[in-house]
Amino acid sequence: PVIRLSDYQAPDWLVDTVHLDVNLHPTATRVRAVLALRPNPTASPAALVLEGDGLALISLKRDGVPLAPDSYVATPDKLTIAQPPHGPFTLEIETLVDPTANTQLSGLYRSSGTWCTQCEAEGFRRITYFPDRPDVMAIYTTRIEADKSEAPVLLANGNLVESGDLDGDRHFAVWHDPHKKPSYLFALVGGDLACVEDTFTTMSSREVTLRIYVEHGKEGRAGYAMDALKRSMRWDEEAFGREYDLDIFMIVAVSDFNMGAMENKGLNVFNDKYVLASGDTATDADFAGIESVIAHEYFHNWTGNRITCRDWFQLCLKEGLTVYRDQEFTSDMRSRPVKRIADVRNLRAAQFVEDSGPLAHPVRPAAYKEINNFYTATVYEKGSEVVRMIGTLIGHDQFRAGMDLYFERHDGEAATVEQFVQCFAEVSGRDMTQFMRWYAQAGTPEVTVKTRYDEEKRTYTISLKQTLAPTPGQPDKEAMLIPLRMGLLDKNGKDLPIINAQDGSIVRDVLILDKPELTVAFDGMAERPVLSINRGFSAPIKLVTDLTGADFALLARHDSDPFNRWQALQTTALRLLIDNVSRLRVGGVPRADDHLIAALAAILDDAGLEPAFIALCLMPPGEGDIAREIGRDIDPDKIQRARQALREDIGIRLGAELSHAYERLTSSEPYSPDAASAGRRALRNVALDLMAATGASPAFTRASEQYAAADNMTDRMAALSTLVQHDAPGRAEALDDFYSRYAENALVIDKWFSLQASSPHKSTLDKVRALTSHPAFSMGNPNRVRALIGAFAHGNLTQFNRADGAGYAFVADAILEIDPKNPQLAARLATAFRTWRTFETGRRTLAEAHLRRIRSHGGLSRDLADIVERALA
Ligand code: ARG
Ligand code: ZN
Repeated sequence: PVIRLSDYQAPDWLVDTVHLDVNLHPTATRVRAVLALRPNPTASPAALVLEGDGLALISLKRDGVPLAPDSYVATPDKLTIAQPPHGPFTLEIETLVDPTANTQLSGLYRSSGTWCTQCEAEGFRRITYFPDRPDVMAIYTTRIEADKSEAPVLLANGNLVESGDLDGDRHFAVWHDPHKKPSYLFALVGGDLACVEDTFTTMSSREVTLRIYVEHGKEGRAGYAMDALKRSMRWDEEAFGREYDLDIFMIVAVSDFNMGAMENKGLNVFNDKYVLASGDTATDADFAGIESVIAHEYFHNWTGNRITCRDWFQLCLKEGLTVYRDQEFTSDMRSRPVKRIADVRNLRAAQFVEDSGPLAHPVRPAAYKEINNFYTATVYEKGSEVVRMIGTLIGHDQFRAGMDLYFERHDGEAATVEQFVQCFAEVSGRDMTQFMRWYAQAGTPEVTVKTRYDEEKRTYTISLKQTLAPTPGQPDKEAMLIPLRMGLLDKNGKDLPIINAQDGSIVRDVLILDKPELTVAFDGMAERPVLSINRGFSAPIKLVTDLTGADFALLARHDSDPFNRWQALQTTALRLLIDNVSRLRVGGVPRADDHLIAALAAILDDAGLEPAFIALCLMPPGEGDIAREIGRDIDPDKIQRARQALREDIGIRLGAELSHAYERLTSSEPYSPDAASAGRRALRNVALDLMAATGASPAFTRASEQYAAADNMTDRMAALSTLVQHDAPGRAEALDDFYSRYAENALVIDKWFSLQASSPHKSTLDKVRALTSHPAFSMGNPNRVRALIGAFAHGNLTQFNRADGAGYAFVADAILEIDPKNPQLAARLATAFRTWRTFETGRRTLAEAHLRRIRSHGGLSRDLADIVERALA
């Protein structure tokens, strides 16, 4: 069935309190739920219908009295009381669940012996019958009982109110959460876990206990996460005035988890990949990932928990906003330009691809079949861009005032996107009606810019045109409101004042394109300026300009906006790469671009730039970027060759400079994960990789030496990756060595799987297939599946999209094998097929055949069926 936003109705029944009594058992956990129900005063009298999912009902009482069997109907998926009382009453429901058999990892399940829960979006109904929708908010008290030897640690949301021993080996704990919350934020954990503890003093001087629970022996790897947590708590106070609101904040790391982490009130549950790190087991990127996910989940305490979503169509209300907040946090902790470039690269790689294919949907979808399939780059990352644009439109101070109003007005409520945007409209006095289209219209707007300089009149004119292509269910689109931050550079690269007298289309340095076409003139221009537009990527659009190679060279060298300096280099390289792909397809050879090499040399030589920024500038657009730009009839092998040719050219022509940089950045300091040190390692490792792209043996020797000598995972992994990517001699020995060094550490072995799955070599599929039988591999662990099969399907353009279709066949088989156990994981993997229509006929035909094969398979989960049907539509 299709659920539609336009069908929203307020709940018939409300729940004031929930008392849960959970008796943990590996295969037969008994759950007693006492719900204080009352009719919703704004709704008309109605039957009581509670959701379930695979539940077995043991007993049912109304106000303490067993219900007559003919007064209710209980199926695994639903509990209906056709004629409930007209006023408030309590319902006592006893259910039985099997956590060990729960391989979906939704509801109550076990991960390495630890009982844990995942209730977002609709997992609570797998624990007990409930009005499992986010606009039903209640106060929860949770009593957990378990064997002391199996589960000495018993946790739930809120504050601990009681605990003690029982007969035999049993014990119990009672937790009370004083804050109203929707069921998706419920959590409990039971297990034999170690913990690290710290404290945080809030801005009003309350002391909060902080605990991170991990498996015994892993305490030493939780320190960075704890540090990130304390910095997140401080930052939310300083940047948004948000204080923590319980006596304790807990994080539990588990090794089987479908997503990154979950913001359950006071009890975040994390994929251990986003908690555990030490210099010799985690890369700089892992540390950065931990910092941002810890922050993200913590920030949900206000944006998601205190103010939650009215319904799941509003998912971006909490996710887009919270991604925006974690991005801002990282920008303040590290380098703002570097963070912005990294986020835009990710947005283009994941969201732009989604937006241009069959799975495209608005930031706020209007309909869904399976909500789990909407935890997407569009809802999260584009959702964040939309919030960022509000800030660009109304300015920093009014943005903060709008956030303050949102917190004040909607605290304790389940809100909508309209209510959120209304706060900014009110504080700024700006009409946000047209802006709302960013939430409703799918697809990436394309803006074409034509520039003209009139020497006589001394005017510079920019003509802009926006288009938005049709997406599924949306054939016609209306003009978007697109804020384009801009500047005009003189011939020395200095910013000129922006003087535009005609109309209000420019506010501060932001040009607002709100019509299909717009022309803006700038007067008093003594010479032709160079336009720098969409500075800082102020709008998530595709930009086409008539700027020349020389214009981009000037921007790359001088733009005061670092994002556009980087972008100028990317655009130049992309133009070259596209041209070379065309040449290769007609049997020609790639050409070189002297200006690009010169621009890169200048960047590499610029002592005023951060190493992390230089590293980003030296990385040519990815294969996916090139494929996206080409858009149709794609031949991935030509893309790979064109990109390799450019890297080789850079490696040869800047060999001396790269070698010099490599030596200069070689450090004897002990490892530290801080951003500046990480930036130096990033640049040094990019230099190494470009040198190796030449295929010259001294570079391979250097990589082998770096592999052996490294005192940290970043450098060891980078060296290994260079050896594997360039198929260097010694790669097999290094891979074996890596495995034996880290065999005990699952998160590191995930890297070993990923690296092999990402190799562009034609033997990769055979290797990946063989690795599925490796003793360390398991189809039941999401991290392992993503590391091997996910990396192959999502991250290896040429080998997944092999001309013979064998890559598709392998991934389709894996999807069908996983689906019965873990539908969310299978559906996620299946999204790798979303680009199938963009390939040349041969691959397109093969990919479609495998998608059809999946679709015709009996008994598909709703998750997988939804993705495959939309991909084929
Ligand atoms: N709310 C979580 C986060 O963004 C994501 C959990 C989603 N889980 C799911 N099964 N859909 O931090
Ligand atoms: Zn989130």
